[in-house]
Amino acid sequence: MNMQPVTLKDKQFKPYIPADELQRIVARLGEQISSDYAGKSPVFLIVLNGAFMFGADLMKHIDLTCRVSLIKVSSYQGMQSTNTVSELIGLNESIENEDVVIVEDIVDTGVTMDHLLSTFKDKKPKSLAICSLLFKPDKFTKNFKIDYIGKSIPNEFVVGYGFDYEGYGRNLPCLYSVKE
Ligand code: IMP
Repeated sequence: MNMQPVTLKDKQFKPYIPADELQRIVARLGEQISSDYAGKSPVFLIVLNGAFMFGADLMKHIDLTCRVSLIKVSSYQGMQSTNTVSELIGLNESIENEDVVIVEDIVDTGVTMDHLLSTFKDKKPKSLAICSLLFKPDKFTKNFKIDYIGKSIPNEFVVGYGFDYEGYGRNLPCLYSVKE
């Protein structure tokens, strides 16, 4: 495993969470969800682009009869969160009266997830849960509950394992944090 620093555009990033630790975190989340939803048939909504790698790995640990949809929403530019959240695309099936699990890469300020929650609540699911690989508690400005958190991290910018810096770095198999 290459755990050297990487350069993406104008920034350097140092190794942060190795791939084997990520896989342990993902496996634990999958087992927890599988046991909590035993006997149920939830719909997983994987939020693109950031959660594509996490979502794919997570689903391999879901031992349930379930459906998976990939949805898309975007609220981020460069390293600054913005308050504008664009339209939701990709939800082509009804989630009315379904148990829904939103799979997100990270909850930072919480603006994106807050928007997703209100969008999905309007569609009257039976239940709505959140599974986020990472959580930045110091930046969180909302008050919704996150049902499944892989890891809480300090306020630093990360790339790799689906996370990008200006579109780059999503393919890296482990997580890196920015070098200031
Ligand atoms: P929020 O709306 O502020 O919670 O931001 C959520 C979105 O911002 C996430 O879905 C990510 O796409 C992006 N984001 C937040 N923190 C990071 C980071 O450290 N690296 C890369 N993307 C991030």
